[in-house]
Amino acid sequence: MQIKEYYFESVDSTNNEAKKWILRGCPEGTVISAGRQTAGRGRRGHVWQSPQDEVVASTIVLYPKLPPERLSMVTLVAAMAVRKTIQELFGLEGQIKWPNDLVLKNRKICGILTEMSVKDQAAEYVIVGIGINVHNRSFPPELSDKAISLDQLLEGKQGRKTDCSQIRKTLWENFLIYYNAFLDSGDLSRLQEEYNRYLINRGRQVRILDPLGDWEGTAKGINSAGELLVDTPSGLRRVDSGEVSVRGADGYV
Ligand code: BTN
Repeated sequence: MQIKEYYFESVDSTNNEAKKWILRGCPEGTVISAGRQTAGRGRRGHVWQSPQDEVVASTIVLYPKLPPERLSMVTLVAAMAVRKTIQELFGLEGQIKWPNDLVLKNRKICGILTEMSVKDQAAEYVIVGIGINVHNRSFPPELSDKAISLDQLLEGKQGRKTDCSQIRKTLWENFLIYYNAFLDSGDLSRLQEEYNRYLINRGRQVRILDPLGDWEGTAKGINSAGELLVDTPSGLRRVDSGEVSVRGADGYV
């Protein structure tokens, strides 16, 4: 697969734009990026703020030939790529909050929205949209104690210039490396060890916000299917990212 990026000053959402390109038959590896999103979307119907030229907002088009139930793992693959990119370019050691938030100083620096279309039990497409806070200096009140940007993290550090186009380039190169490792085995068995190394929840008490009732336990790490293994008094439980949200026992992480 070859990455080919198309950049727009402004779109409603790079994920929405990618879907339009899929309808027109764009090849796998097409990346839609924008300087601004007027209707950026987050998980669970949330709005994702993307002020002019302050964030990376970028979406890749994929046509994986794997059973749909395996494709939620792509989100974890993307989180690994963001972590690696920020570490390589800026020397920042982020950690992953399962399944796909990248966290620095206990705040979230990136969000990932993976969407897919399934027909006759096969995926027609998967799109992975990544938003990274880069130049933001402030956040809406509801996010002010949860979000942080690269510029805020790099304040006072010399020689680390944040450039959104460089970040996007390195990000999708790294994504491709991890994505190919995922496709080779069809699961995260090759990536699990590295993912768990950077998993902020590992060894910590987590609260699982489950529609069937919240519960708590100690996070052990992911298995090769990307499920979070949580130790509870009644035994080890597996948590699938589609169903639930995870919080630290006392807050976000
Ligand atoms: C989250 O809620 O954490 C996920 C946020 C995902 C935001 C990105 S920005 C690029 C792409 N386009 C969108 O509309 N959303 C994703």
